[in-house]
Parts: sequence; structure tokens; C-alpha cells
Amino acid sequence: MRGVPDRPLIVILAAGAGTRMRSRHPKVLHELAGRPLLGWVIETARSLDPAQIRVVIGSGSQAVRDAFPDADLHFVDQGKPLGTGHAVRTALTGVRGNPRVLVLYGDVPLLPQEELRALIAAAQPGQLALLTAERDEPQGYGRILRDERGGIRAIVEQADLADSPIEAIREINTGILAASADDLASLLPRIQNDNAQGEYYLTDLVALALAAGLVVTTHRARDSDLALGINRASDLARAERKIRLRIVEDLLNQGVRIRDPDRFDLRGTLEAGADVAIDVGVVFEGAIHLGEGVRIGPYCVLRDVELGEGSEVYSHCVLEGVKTGKGVRIGPFARIRPETSLGEGDRIGNFVEIKNTRMGADSKANHLAYVGDADVGSAVNLGAGVITVNYDGENKHRTVIEDEVMIGCDVQLVAPVTIGRGAFIGAGSTIVRDAPAGGLTLARSDQKTIPDWKRPGRKD
Ligand code: UD1
Ligand code: CA
Repeated sequence: MRGVPDRPLIVILAAGAGTRMRSRHPKVLHELAGRPLLGWVIETARSLDPAQIRVVIGSGSQAVRDAFPDADLHFVDQGKPLGTGHAVRTALTGVRGNPRVLVLYGDVPLLPQEELRALIAAAQPGQLALLTAERDEPQGYGRILRDERGGIRAIVEQADLADSPIEAIREINTGILAASADDLASLLPRIQNDNAQGEYYLTDLVALALAAGLVVTTHRARDSDLALGINRASDLARAERKIRLRIVEDLLNQGVRIRDPDRFDLRGTLEAGADVAIDVGVVFEGAIHLGEGVRIGPYCVLRDVELGEGSEVYSHCVLEGVKTGKGVRIGPFARIRPETSLGEGDRIGNFVEIKNTRMGADSKANHLAYVGDADVGSAVNLGAGVITVNYDGENKHRTVIEDEVMIGCDVQLVAPVTIGRGAFIGAGSTIVRDAPAGGLTLARSDQKTIPDWKRPGRKD
């Protein structure tokens, strides 16, 4: 038909209850490598340059809508999920023209777009194109039934196998298919629900298409693991592992030195300069940028972090929302919370917590400190046990520490308070007023000795 763009209409099925996950949350919102299952499928759909993306929702529909506010998605509410066939029929209500339709399942997140392109190309009017896969463990999937000449005859669902020899068939239905909207419009209403689950199976389309004289072509997925459908928590774990290995492979190819691919997790994106080394057990989340030569020690968790060139994070640190200059050293056992920036050459040591703080270059907090809501200058030294007292029970206040200040051990800085440039604060002080630049400020009682003091004797 002239004037009809060749871009496909993509239908994503996401209305099922996901009972087998045994979870209160809609299945398609469960996270895989830091992103909801449905997010993966939507990204794949977008990469195919579709005319439109229609997402069929039902169980937990509001939560699914809220999770994907993007304007390019058209949500279609299926109401009660009566089966995948019913879902596609609902999705295509009111479709005009005769575009090619690609059906994706919201719980089959890993399929590469190249395989889907081939499927769309095969879906000429009068043809139904189906993506199958060969699996060593076909349990749970619809099986592909072929005749003696190898042509496809039908799909039989797991629930309808009833101990038949079909169970041994390893070729499975991925759920993904493509056809023209006209062909679907004539076939979908013929699907019945007289099966073990009482559902309208999209898979019945194959037998119906053949009976109607359509050509059904099958395409075998190259990597059957990528056709994995997520029904249970164990499927989710398997898919996560698959993605992780794919990500690790990419990073290793870029030259990132990952100590052990089996002990590496990325739930987001990671950009790394040359000569970055990552030890075992590190979990990365959100957007991570690691400058050239950055080293991350074992068992750290980093979320939305940008580390300057040559920086080093020692073992067991938790960093979130942190940006640093070059050559910073952090940890072991440090915790840095959001809205924190560290200057070039800063040193944050063990058992130090920092939050919502800007620190200039070459400053140090080496041991046991809490620095929150603070502006710390350059070349500042915060001794062991320094605490910014930022919270009065109602409001948070800022602490300002100017350049070259030395704060002795066990000092409390009761905010709002400013410590002037070059000031020295004596150990053990509780500072409640601004301390002037340059001077030594002490706020503790003088030391005294009672020489003829007697220890209390034991009472019998
Ligand atoms: C389905 C296929 C099966 C295939 C497998 C691949 C059918 C009947 N069976 O089985 O042949 O091997 O996927 O992973 O299609 N959904 C709706 N509305 C509904 C029912 C389901 O939108 O009324 C959605 C679900 O949210 C899910 C997808 O469709 O994203 C598949 O449904 P599910 O119940 O998981 O089907 P399977 O039993 O896995
Ligand atoms: Ca499924």
C-alpha cells in the first residue's frame, strides 16, 4: 500500500500478573541489571525505529505507567489478563492501515535487535514470522510441533502437554512474532480459550494461520539464552548473570582490568579511561565514570560516581553521588553520600562519613569523622573524631572551614559555624561560635590535677 510507512508497529505484552514470581510487584517492573524488565524491552523496541510502541498493561497498570512516563509509549489497558492472544487483540483495536506488527513479550528482555529485524522483514502480508529457540531445558515454554518434512504445524503450551512425547521437543516458542495487521485482525478473533489454562493463547495463531493458508516461517534465535523468558526469581538471576557476562566482555575488550568476571556487577553504565583496574566483589550502580588509571579495591559499592584520573578507592567503601578531582584516595571503610565533591589529592580514610560537602584540594579526613553539610577549603586537616554537628533536631546547618585550617582530634563544630583561614582548633573542643582566621581556638576546660587525691577505699 502506497504511503504506508514501512516502520513496524510494536506491541509489548506486559499485562500478566506474574504469579510465578511470588511478588507483590508487577513482574515487568522487576529489575534486571538495574533496570526494569520492561525497560529492556522498550529499549530494544525503540532501536527498531517503530511507527508506534503499544504497551499492553493490566496487573499493576498504574505502577507500570508511572515507571514509564515517556511520551512515545501508548498504553493499552487489557483489564483482566485473559491470555496473550487477547492481549494482542486488545492492543490492535483501532489500528488503521496495514503496518507490520511485531509482538514482543515484556518478560523476554534480552533479545538482540538484529534477530527482530529479520523477523519484521519476513512478515509480508500472508506471512507469519515466528522466532524460536533451541533450549536444553525447554520446560515451561511452548514447544514447536513440526511435520515429517520439517514444516511447523503448531505450538503446544507446557500446561497442555500432559506427559505427551512432545515434552521432549527442545525447540521452543520465544513468544516473539511478526505479521501484518490485517492478517492479525482476521486471525486473532478465531482464537479460543479451550485449553488447560482457560486462556486465549497467542500461540494458537500458528495453527490458525496455516489453516487459513498463510505461510508461517520460523527463525531460530542464535543464542538461546537470549530468548530467556522471566517467570521466576531463578530466571531473573540467570538473566542477570547473562547480562553481566556480556557487560564484562565489553569492558574487558575496552581494556578495563576486571579481576574476576564472576565477581563483578554493573547495574547501570560504566565509562572508564585507560588502565582502570577493578578488584573483586565491586557493585556499580547508576552512571559511573572512572578516569584514567583509577583503581577500585575489593568489595566496594559505587552508585552515580565520577572519579578523577589516578584516584584510588580502597576496600569496603560505599560511595554514592560523589564527584572527585584527580588523585583522590578513599578508604578503606569510608562512606561518602550524595552531593559530595572532593578536590584533587584529597584523602578520606577509614570510618569517615561525608555527606553534602564540597572539599577543596589536598585536604584530609583520615580517621573516624563525620563531615556533613560542609564547605571545606584546600589543605585542611580534619583530625580523628571530628564531627560537624549539622542537625539541631529541626533543621540542617552548614559548616564552613576555610583553607589551611587544622582541626584537632575529637572536635565538634556546631553549625552554623565558620572556621577562618589558617585557624587551628585545639583537640577536644566544642566550637559553637565562629573561630577567627589564623589563631588557636580552644573550647574545653583547662586541665588540672588534684595532687593529694585519695582513691575511694573498698567498703566491706
Ligand atoms: C509464553 C508463550 C510460550 C512461550 C513463552 C516464552 C503463550 C500462550 N505462551 O508463555 O509459548 O514459550 O511465553 O517466554 O503466549 N501477558 C499479557 N496479557 C495476558 C497474559 C500475558 O500481557 O493476558 C503478558 C505477560 O505480562 C508476559 C507475556 O505476556 O509479559 C507472556 O505471558 P506469560 O504468562 O509469562 O506466558 P508464558 O507462560 O511464559
Ligand atoms: Ca513468560
